Amino acid sequence: MNDVISFLKKRKSVRVFEDKPIGSEEKAVILDAALQAPTAGNMTLYTIIDVTDKKLKETLAVTCDNQPFIAKAPLVLVFCADYYRWINVFRKHVDEVRSPSYGDLFLANADALIAAQNAVVAAESLGIGSCYIGDITENFEKHRALFDLPDYVVPACMLCFGYPAKSQIERQKPPRFKAQDIVFQNTYNKAKADNMENMLCERQNISEEKIGEYIRKFCNRKHNSDFSIEMSRSCKAMVDFFTGK
Ligand SMILES: Cc1cc2nc3c(=O)[nH]c(=O)nc-3n(C[C@H](O)[C@H](O)[C@H](O)COP(=O)(O)O)c2cc1C
Repeated sequence: MNDVISFLKKRKSVRVFEDKPIGSEEKAVILDAALQAPTAGNMTLYTIIDVTDKKLKETLAVTCDNQPFIAKAPLVLVFCADYYRWINVFRKHVDEVRSPSYGDLFLANADALIAAQNAVVAAESLGIGSCYIGDITENFEKHRALFDLPDYVVPACMLCFGYPAKSQIERQKPPRFKAQDIVFQNTYNKAKADNMENMLCERQNISEEKIGEYIRKFCNRKHNSDFSIEMSRSCKAMVDFFTGK
C-alpha cells in the first residue's frame, strides 16, 4: 500500500488537540495543497478564511452548534463558495452578464469542498489531524456578518486542524460501509439501497432486534435535531442570498 492510500485508510476526525501550534511552514503546505485541488474551469470558485482571532474562534464554537473544541483548534479554516471575484470582472468587461445562479453555487460549493479535502489529506501526511465542521452552514446571517461576506460568497465548510492528543490517536476509526453496498454498476440499484438495515447491522455490529432502536436514536440525534432544522433554514437563506432572491 502506498503512503497516500495508507493515509486515506487511517485518517479519522480529530477533536482533541495537543497544545502545540501548527508552524507557518506546515500551514503554508496545507494551504498550497488546497489550492492545488481541481476546480471547475480552473476558476477557483472559493475563498479560504484563516481564523486566527481567538475571540472569533470562541464565537464560532458557539454559533457552530456549541462545539467547544473549535475554540481550542490551533488552525481553523473556513472554506467559502465564492463567485464575487468572477462576477465583478465579468460585469466590468462583458456587456451582458447573467446573474450567478444555482449552477454557479453548486460548482463553487464543489470547488470549496474539494479544496478542503486536499487540505485534510495534506495535513494528515504531516501528522496533523483535522475535523470538518458542517455547522458553519448554520446561522448564515451571523456568519455573514462575522466574516463580512459580500454578495455571492457563502460558507461551504469549516475545518479545525491540530496535532492529535493521545486519546485521539488511540480512538478507533468509525467503521465504513462496504464498497459492494455503496458502489452500483451503471444504474441505481434500489434493491441494494433497500438493504440499509442489514448494512447498518453489519457496520455497527448490532443484532436485527436492536436495529430499530439504533435507527430511532440516530434519527433523533441527527436528522430530527434542532441543528439540522437550523441548517436547512440557513442553507435556504444562503441560496436566496447567492441567487439574489
Ligand atoms: C460535511 C461534514 C460535516 C461534519 N461536521 C462535523 C461537525 O460539525 N462536528 C464534528 O465533530 N464532526 C463533524 N464531521 C465529522 C464526521 O462526524 C466524521 O467524519 C464521521 O463521523 C466519520 O468519522 P471519521 O472522520 O473519524 O472517520 C463532519 C464531517 C463532514 C464530512
